[in-house]
Amino acid sequence: MSGQNMNNKVSILITGGAGFIGSHVVRRFVQKYAQYTIINLDKLTYAGNLENLSDLQGSPNYRFVKGDICDEALVENLFHTHDIHKVIHLAAESHVDRSISNPMEFIRTNIVGTVVLLNAARNAWKNSFADRLFYHISTDEVYGSLGETGLFTEDTSYDPHSPYSASKASSDHLVRAYHDTYGIPVVVSNCSNNYGPNQFPEKLIPLAIHNILNNRPVPVYGSGENVRDWLYVEDHAAAIDLVFHAGKVAETYNIGGHNEWKNIDLIRMLCSVMDRKLNRQEGESAKLITFVKDRAGHDLRYAIDAGKIERELGWTPSLQFEEGLERTVDWYLNNSEWIRSVTSGEYTEYYSKQYEHR
Ligand SMILES: NC(=O)c1ccc[n+]([C@@H]2O[C@H](COP(=O)([O-])OP(=O)(O)OC[C@H]3O[C@@H](n4cnc5c(N)ncnc54)[C@H](O)[C@@H]3O)[C@@H](O)[C@H]2O)c1
Repeated sequence: MSGQNMNNKVSILITGGAGFIGSHVVRRFVQKYAQYTIINLDKLTYAGNLENLSDLQGSPNYRFVKGDICDEALVENLFHTHDIHKVIHLAAESHVDRSISNPMEFIRTNIVGTVVLLNAARNAWKNSFADRLFYHISTDEVYGSLGETGLFTEDTSYDPHSPYSASKASSDHLVRAYHDTYGIPVVVSNCSNNYGPNQFPEKLIPLAIHNILNNRPVPVYGSGENVRDWLYVEDHAAAIDLVFHAGKVAETYNIGGHNEWKNIDLIRMLCSVMDRKLNRQEGESAKLITFVKDRAGHDLRYAIDAGKIERELGWTPSLQFEEGLERTVDWYLNNSEWIRSVTSGEYTEYYSKQYEHR
């Protein structure tokens, strides 16, 4: 078989497709590209949830495989059984706080798992790299922290500060090294903070929504001065679609929302949206804001220069932040069952360790 599997479709392996960003990417590809078969490989850690993709059940061009990207035999077998042509690699341990308390899992999945995938691609594609692609999804956190001015470009030197960002930086280097050493066609994108539906409520925005809704304290690290650049998750999925189809091999594309917010200002705005949605008095939810001891090695500011992807591929974010935030709040308010199921069990334990015993 050259180029296509038995159904005459190109098989694309998406890793981490049951997670936050991955689920939006999988849905977009399954619904938009009938000519592809999408194989979603996900271990279903605490962050992965098949409910994120329940609407795709029964789609003829979609398969889910539960498994670990570090499992060499499984990954090799997948490449051969499905004649994988292209990879979009999102599977990762992704939460900075968890990387501070348990770095090894980040080294294993983010570094070793990436190499297992690269080795399998190299073996499966050894006769020809024509029409093959390994697309690695990364983060702006690899660039370290900015002062009050400046933007990260694709040429900014790497300077990661957390075990999470160091493990992602390492995987980025390995992906590029496999291109330089073995010729594997790769492309990398580094994106700013995402927000939107399906995000596990340990990250800032869904955590705050969940706590405001339940009248619990809304923890803000330090004095909330840290600045992040926020992008709606579906805009990231659209950028991934574009880089996958039109990006140049061996290039890196920075993706960002031109949308910088101090954490405290963002939380205040969210409180005000929640007051409106929950028919509370203006200012009521903001009373829940509680400053907690700052995260170790907390980067002050991230901001992306997304000029290259705009100029070369014509991508721009489609949503204003206010609109994206409103949509996000509506989604969480309308999906209380999803929140209930993901915040039972392990989440409760994690939450009390992280915020209640400080
Ligand atoms: N969330 C953001 O703001 C952001 C921004 C830029 C880049 N990224 C990158 O995008 C990717 C996805 O991030 P996310 O926020 O959706 O993460 P997430 O934590 O929501 O999802 C990660 C997914 O990977 C799966 N997974 C974890 N370990 C695995 C393993 N060993 N084998 C197979 N599957 C495994 C999980 O089950 C989960 O479904 C990551 O690579 C992350 O570094 C995230």
